[in-house]
Formats: sequence, structure tokens, C-alpha cells
Amino acid sequence: MLFQHTARSAAALFGFLYCLALVSTSSAQAQTQAAPARLPNVTILATGGTIAGTGATSTTTVGYTAAKIGVDALIAAVPEMAKIANVSGEQVFQIASENMGNEHWLTLAKRVNTLLAQPNVDGIVITHGTDTLEETAYFLNLVVKSRKPVVLVGSMRPSTAMSADGPVNLYNAVLLAGSPDAVGRGVLVALNDQINGAREVSKTNTITADTFKATELGMLGYIVGGKPFFYRASTRKHTADTEFDVMNLATLPQVEVAYAHANVGPVAIDALVASGAKGLVHAGVGDGSLPAKVRPALSSARKKGVIIVRSSRVGHGIVARNGEANDDELDFIAGDNLSPQKARILLMLALTRTDNTREIQRMFWTY
Ligand code: SIN
Repeated sequence: MLFQHTARSAAALFGFLYCLALVSTSSAQAQTQAAPARLPNVTILATGGTIAGTGATSTTTVGYTAAKIGVDALIAAVPEMAKIANVSGEQVFQIASENMGNEHWLTLAKRVNTLLAQPNVDGIVITHGTDTLEETAYFLNLVVKSRKPVVLVGSMRPSTAMSADGPVNLYNAVLLAGSPDAVGRGVLVALNDQINGAREVSKTNTITADTFKATELGMLGYIVGGKPFFYRASTRKHTADTEFDVMNLATLPQVEVAYAHANVGPVAIDALVASGAKGLVHAGVGDGSLPAKVRPALSSARKKGVIIVRSSRVGHGIVARNGEANDDELDFIAGDNLSPQKARILLMLALTRTDNTREIQRMFWTY
């Protein structure tokens, strides 16, 4: 009897505990299913530009003032971002990007690196004027020491314009910066629903919204329906895989660009060398050709210790080593397919490491 009673009690107790376990398991599952996925933490670093610009009327799309709206107002204008990311903002500068200088880049790069080293930051968006956006993107592409996404964004119409492109561009940039698909792809540029790589992208049109293109080599992908779609990747080394570190730098070496054209003479080159330039990028004609009046000026600059990079004003194609000039003899560097303005950035960073021209040529073929 006693045994039967004990057995019945034990069975009842087991049944009760089993039911309890079932209830608590299913309620845990329900909680798991109900809990939303963690939103990425994205910091917006605002630097000014047309995306923060204001005009007199909604039809003012030229003659407006860039860099007027603060980061809080930029974020408040796109409340939809709260559904895709935990967004925070910092006003790093408030400038039109034609005034972007080396000192701004160093400040920005240090802030990006500091933020991305924090485990609670998943990605960074930088709002920027479009005029020099491609240069800041390439600089960061070479000095950010993280694989987390960094996305530059701007707009071609000011915030007050009819059909302003800033809000949708900002939304897409935040989406991209919070996406695992964007990790390890280098610094990205997101405007007009398109994703471009920092090394190849350029502003190609002075006024239209579809201005950022990597003509010839192509964009990396699109942002459609709240999702990035990637089709290709930049193959040159970038971000965490570069040899450049600006965290302890207060300045960058002076590097200038000299532009070639019909009837060009040595005046600009001589003046730039006299101003103390440590490096000169020659934006030559064609395949980086050196006009007869320019070659002696560049050669004499090299003999004074100035590092010379031959690039091209054409905009596409490679400036081949020992092609239109004997780089070995002149001790010049061939600029590969970098635009003159991007060759300037790589030469500045190269000069923070070495003045050995063979090493600098290697860097031009690596980055
Ligand atoms: C600027 O680059 O700051 C002005 C032009 C623009 O953002 O489109």
C-alpha cells in the first residue's frame, strides 16, 4: 500500500514537473520568437556639405549655403532610421567640403578609429560635402584600422529643396553601415541607391544626383528595398590591411598637384617646389606624358629630393611605369590608375613611411 501510494505520488510529482518544464520551455521559445533582433549601433559623424545645406526656397538648388544644419536635425529628419539602427550623432566639423584639409582628415580618422575600437559601435556614417567626398573616402580607406563598415554620404540638393536627396541617402547609408554584408569591404560611398568603393569612385557631374560613379570599373552594388546587394569587391588592400597609421600624427607631408595642358610651362611646378612641397603629383596629358617644358622642372625637383608621381588628367586607364617617360632613369613613380587627387593622398601617406621610390612605387601598385 505504502509502496503504491509513494509510487502514485512520485508519478504525480513527475507529471507536474514535466508540465511545468513544458510550459516554461514553450514560454521561453515564445519569448525568443517575440524578441526583436538586436539593432546595430551606428554613429553618424557630421562634417557639413550640401546634405546639411539650406536654400532660400524649395526650388533653390544652386546658390544655397552648405553646412548649416546640425547632426541632430539631420537625424530628426529621418525618423525611419530608428527602425533599422540605434543611431547616435556627433558634429565633427561644419564645413563645405572644398575647405576639407589634411588637419580635418587626421581629426576624422582618429575619431573613426577610436569609435570603431569600441565593441558597442557596429558602423560609422560620415555626412560630407560631395565636392571632396571621394578624397576623404580614399584617405579613410587607407588609414581606418577596422573591418567594420564606414560609409560616406552626401547629397546634391540642400535639405530645403523639393525632392531633397539627403534623407534617403542618409537612410541608406545607415542601413549599409549597420549591415553585416558591408563588413570588410573597405570604406564605402552610398548615394543615389548605389554603393561604390572609396578607391574607384569619383564625382562625375557638377549638378545631377547620380554624380558618384566608378566609371569603367563599376559600382559595388545597390541598396534596394532596405537591403544592400553586393556584386563585386575592391581588390586593392584597404583599412585593416594597410601599413599606414595616423593615430600619432599631427600633420601630413606637403604634397601638391601640378596640372598639364597645352602650352604649359614650368611656372607652377617651380613655385610648388619653392613652397616646400615634399611630393608632387603631375596630372599629365594622355598616359601621364610630360610636356617638354615640364620634364626638366620635374627632374630638377626630384634632384632636390621631391618625390614625383606621374598621373593623368584623363580620368581612366593606367599610367604605365616607363611608358611615356623613363621612370627608372628619372626616379619617378607611375601613378597606376589613381586620379591625381587620390594619388596625392597615397603619396602623402607613403611619405609618412619612407622616401624610397621603389617602396613608394610598390605602394602605388598595392593600394
Ligand atoms: C560641398 O562639397 O560641401 C558642397 C557641395 C555638395 O555637398 O554637394
